[in-house]
Parts: sequence; C-alpha cells; structure tokens
Amino acid sequence: MPFYTKCGKFPHKRHTQFRRDDGKLYTEEVMGMEGFSGIQSLLYHHFPPTSVSKVDSLPSEEVEWLDYGPLRGRQFKTKDFPPGGDPHESRRTILGNSDVTLGLSRPTESSKAFYRNGQAYEVWYCHEGKGKLESQFGTNPFRPGDYIVIPYGTTWKMELDGEARFLVIECPSQIAPPKRYRNKYGQLLEHSPYCERDMNPPEYREPIAERGEFPVHVKVRDAHHLHVMTHHPFDVVGWDGYLYPWTFNIEDFEPITGRIHQPPPVHQTFEAHNFVVCSFCPRLFDYHPQSIPAPYNHSNVNSDEVLYYVDGDFMSRRGVDKYDWTLHPSGLPHGPQPGATEASIGKEKTEELAVMVDTFRPLQVAKGAIEFEEDDYAYSWVE
Ligand SMILES: [Fe+2]
Repeated sequence: MPFYTKCGKFPHKRHTQFRRDDGKLYTEEVMGMEGFSGIQSLLYHHFPPTSVSKVDSLPSEEVEWLDYGPLRGRQFKTKDFPPGGDPHESRRTILGNSDVTLGLSRPTESSKAFYRNGQAYEVWYCHEGKGKLESQFGTNPFRPGDYIVIPYGTTWKMELDGEARFLVIECPSQIAPPKRYRNKYGQLLEHSPYCERDMNPPEYREPIAERGEFPVHVKVRDAHHLHVMTHHPFDVVGWDGYLYPWTFNIEDFEPITGRIHQPPPVHQTFEAHNFVVCSFCPRLFDYHPQSIPAPYNHSNVNSDEVLYYVDGDFMSRRGVDKYDWTLHPSGLPHGPQPGATEASIGKEKTEELAVMVDTFRPLQVAKGAIEFEEDDYAYSWVE
C-alpha cells in the first residue's frame, strides 16, 4: 500500500512500553513483507498474537487443471454460477497459473470462520452485494464495484448484507497501483487515473478483548490449516504503517481518453508480479473526426487476456453478456467481431464495465470452469 496510515492508539515511540488500563503491556507485532524490507505495519494487541491452543490440518481442495487442447479463444458464461455457503465455501477457481488464480464466489452467508492467507494477496472484486470486511486492522465496508485488496497475513471475516457475487484474484505477489503513476516517493501523480483519496483504509473498530477458542483457517504451503487462537483475533487497539486491507471502487477510476483509440494500458488499475488488472469503465469515445472507437485486432504477444464482464454493453464483443468471461491466449490475434468495427463509428460513449486481467504467462483452465464454457466462441469471428 503506498501511503502511511494510522488507526486507534499506539505509543509515541515504536518498541517502547505501552500499557493497558490494568497496567499490563500491550503486545506489539510487526507485520511486514519481504523480511523487514517491504511495506509493514506495527500493531498493538491486547493478547499475544502467537497464542494458539491447537493446530491441525484441514481438508484442502486442490485445483484440477485441464489440458488446454487446441489454442483458441474461450468463453465462460457464469451467470448461473451456483450460489450458497459462505465466501470461502462458495469460492471456485476458473483460470490460473503460478502467478495468479482467478475465481468466483457467490456466497449467501457471512464467513463462518476467521481466514488468513499466509501465501498470497487476495483481491475480492464485489460485483454484487455489500457488507464489511472485518480484520485485525478494523472495518472495510464494501459495495458493488469495490476492489477489496487484502494483504498476506491479514486475518479476516466477511459480514454480508444478503447474497453477494465476487470475482476473486489471488496472487503470491504484492498488488499495488502501477509504478508509472507514482513519483519516487510513492505518491500517485497527477496523470494517474485515481489517487490516494480514492483508496479507503480500514475504519477504526473497538478492539475485541475476549478470551476463548477462536478457530482461524490459515492457507499456506498450498494447504489449509486450523489454528485455534486463545483470544479473539481482532484484539488490536491501534496500528500504523503501510500494510493493511483497503478498497478502491471502480467508479472512482477516471478513464483516460483521446482523439484516437487508446490502448489497454490506459485502463490499468493495479500491477503485481507477471500480471496486471485493468478497469474498463463508462467513458467518452475517441473524438478525432475519422476515429474508430472499436479496438484494432491485436495479438497478445507474451500475454493471456481475461475479461470479466460486469455491466453494460461491451461494444467490440458479440454474444458476450454480463457475468461472462473471455480468454484470449497469446499466440493468436483477436479483435472486434464482424460488424463491430463499422457499428462503433459515430458512437460517442460507452457504458461498458469490465475487469480485465492480463497475465504474462499462459493461463490454465480449471476443471470447475468447464460447465460454463460456450463451445463456439473460437469461431465467432467468422463472417
Ligand atoms: Fe484484447
């Protein structure tokens, strides 16, 4: 996270005595990335964050990847993705590689257990529904359009107001705003499509200083583990630093437009190791008198392109609806379907809303995606 934030109370000087009302010391914890060299936060707990009364292994779902078969563009229609369970029970991987996995979750209930991913960042893009992400850092309320960015090591629960639908991105690298939009101090520059004001750190929540048995599901080493903590994990009285969960709403992405067609990097929202996340938002089209708003055909050299269609009409695609995914792998060109280029001329704006993930290494298709696949997509460019 690129900016310093503080929340609650903590001592004037780090690593000094800080006492509770009963005279006992609060327990200090440094939570950071890259072994004290990356971003970090300092947290103050009522109880030691190390105190667990039981550890155990939990059943771990292993994603089954399928042979890709002949190289082709693919489409998955996930409108009827089955709802049910809590955010993790409902979660299913659709596409992925060792840099990133992309999945869906359509929960109907709030989280049943505390969860901590110790091996990856997670971004939950809220497509539908609203609620709160509760963590040791406080409360992040969310609503449709929010990217909820959750760093490694965050212990969290999701409280939902009714049913919800999420696109879930998980990666063993750090998700951050693109470097080219930041100055050498990390601050977002004037030409960035969003700024710090659009990024929402957690809100303060009173610490929950309760003792008891609190099961936490920890994901690490590609497996799930049970840690029963002897106190409530949200016992933090205050923290400060650069590492915390935050939200950014896709409506706050200010599209960059031009006289002629702007390439996909203008939509880039986040970067991570070997992939980027882009937001295609409602915007005015190109304003050169001879401009063609539809994109040109393009070959994604060194890049697999995934689009998840959130809302509106996607002008370059025919037969693609809200909740659909398309995958355009590297090695073959793609572009507007027949008629889309001519039809785009003269249009002044688009209401399309989509999330795109471009990976720099090939994506595999998970077995759980096949029931949603639309077989004829590869031939949809035939006139
Ligand atoms: Fe493309």
